[in-house]
Amino acid sequence: MSRFLITGGAGYIGSHTAKLLATSGHDIVVFDNLSRGHRDLVRWGPLIEGDIRDTALLREALRWFRPDAVIHFAAIAYVGESVARPDLYYDNNTAGTLSLLRAMKEAPCSNLIVSSTCATYGQPARMPITEETPQLPLNPYGQSKLMMEIMCADFAAAFGLHYMALRYFNACGCDPDGETGERHDPEPHLIPRALMAADGEIDRLDVFGGDYPTPDGTCVRDYIHVSDLAAAHMAGALHLMDGGASGALNLGTGRGISVKEIIDAAERVTGKPVPHRVSARRAGDPAVLVAATNKANAVLDWKARHSDIDNILATAWAWHRQERNQTKRRL
Ligand SMILES: NC(=O)c1ccc[n+]([C@@H]2O[C@H](COP(=O)([O-])OP(=O)(O)OC[C@H]3O[C@@H](n4cnc5c(N)ncnc54)[C@H](O)[C@@H]3O)[C@@H](O)[C@H]2O)c1
Repeated sequence: MSRFLITGGAGYIGSHTAKLLATSGHDIVVFDNLSRGHRDLVRWGPLIEGDIRDTALLREALRWFRPDAVIHFAAIAYVGESVARPDLYYDNNTAGTLSLLRAMKEAPCSNLIVSSTCATYGQPARMPITEETPQLPLNPYGQSKLMMEIMCADFAAAFGLHYMALRYFNACGCDPDGETGERHDPEPHLIPRALMAADGEIDRLDVFGGDYPTPDGTCVRDYIHVSDLAAAHMAGALHLMDGGASGALNLGTGRGISVKEIIDAAERVTGKPVPHRVSARRAGDPAVLVAATNKANAVLDWKARHSDIDNILATAWAWHRQERNQTKRRL
């Protein structure tokens, strides 16, 4: 049994990882300021309510709990917001990670998994994207995550930190048991919005661009189920604790799915039409983003097993309906 401190464990991906670690027999503590997370999603270990920029509190938490590794999800992650308020992103994501790195150095705790993103690659010319593809982010959110990776590499070289930066592609789906799920406000992600449109909660889904050089003209992305992400985090942490090398890995499926294919799957799974309208392209949206996954498959002995598109939509739909039914019961 090992011990893990999970920053951002009250959020979407963090709560799924907390569940997997706890149900696999590990001890977890969540460290979250609840700025974008939810107290009721902290179900698999105690919550320390605190901000990662509070280095002293983090150091105290690390000295008290003595985790074998920290898994760091805490961040804000809206691309549009990051363009309007870069100050928030560099403060929360970049300075927040520096604060965590300092606290870990002082505690000490030397194993760290961090949430990075395909947004650090920007708009690469060649697919699939490998870990060696140049990282040229197009917005402050991607920059804030690239800076986080750079700091981890520098702390590894100078102070012996062991780290793994996991670059997720499109996180989606929900816990198959319905014990946690995706709850963002506002909700910018395609799949929950497609389900909101199917359910009549929004008038229609906006599809940004129908004239991309892709088979059906809509953007193609690599959708990875959150249960697969959780499994990769556990494998990554155990890899570092076993003395495995530090570095960065892509987490995706290697398979591209278009927006149109997501809409078709949402209609199939819900049995309802998804009203949508094709509008102009959004600035900075590449036509295709697909991960090369062989490095993660080999290093972590891990493969995406839950990321079949109908399974993604079915688990997301079950969570959506459960959440709405609970809201109705409360009213
Ligand atoms: N959702 C995706 O598709 C996706 C893709 C790539 C990378 N990521 C990264 O994965 C991580 C988790 O994303 P998510 O979708 O679960 O987000 P989320 O908003 O659901 O969870 C983030 C959690 O971090 C907490 N948090 C934020 N700032 C904090 C701070 N200063 N101190 C303490 N807690 C803080 C929030 O309260 C929230 O509980 C983020 O780092 C994000 O950048 C997400």
